[in-house]
Amino acid sequence: MSTAEDEAGARRPGEVAVTLPERTDAGVHFIGRIRTPWTRREECPKNPASSDAPCTIELDPRFAQGLADLETFSHVIVLYWMDRAARDLVVQRPRSHGAPRGVFALRSPARPNPIALSCVRLERIEGTHLHVRGLDCLDGTPLIDLKPYLPSIDCHPDASFGWKTADTTTRQHGKAS
Ligand SMILES: C[S@@+](CC[C@H](N)C(=O)[O-])C[C@H]1O[C@@H](n2cnc3c(N)ncnc32)[C@H](O)[C@@H]1O
Repeated sequence: MSTAEDEAGARRPGEVAVTLPERTDAGVHFIGRIRTPWTRREECPKNPASSDAPCTIELDPRFAQGLADLETFSHVIVLYWMDRAARDLVVQRPRSHGAPRGVFALRSPARPNPIALSCVRLERIEGTHLHVRGLDCLDGTPLIDLKPYLPSIDCHPDASFGWKTADTTTRQHGKAS
């Protein structure tokens, strides 16, 4: 599947789609593009933790001055726009997890505003190119924002795994990939 239309035609049992509002409430500026080794969704890592592949974030040169001081951080939060995802699925049935789940309890790219995030390791910045590891998106995915990752704010060692607890336990025992 390569387009939202393709995806819309491939609903799984238990999934629920809604009619989206006719108009959007705000606009975004894509501030760059993300270059990755993956051109098909099936090739993409399912999440940033499952790939260490080098990727490049190409910032639009007009925003270059905004990169000042970012290189002082080891990790950066990257927000990007999943431009090839459906937007109307409020209940989804993840291929690998069986039961239908609410979209806001999922990290699925298909959501009303298809915004994704990854916390990436920043290796170096060359001009307006950021060399990073830890992304899971298709080549050419639009970039929305960059923010420094701050362990004192963003790290929660006591966080729960929610409905994914069983999945995580299984994985730790080596029964799933
Ligand atoms: C499960 S999402 C997680 C995204 C992000 N790390 C997050 O947690 O918000 C990652 C998957 O989205 C899909 N994907 C990647 N780039 C996409 C794009 N530009 N449009 C639509 N789907 C995309 C791929 O199947 C990839 O494995």
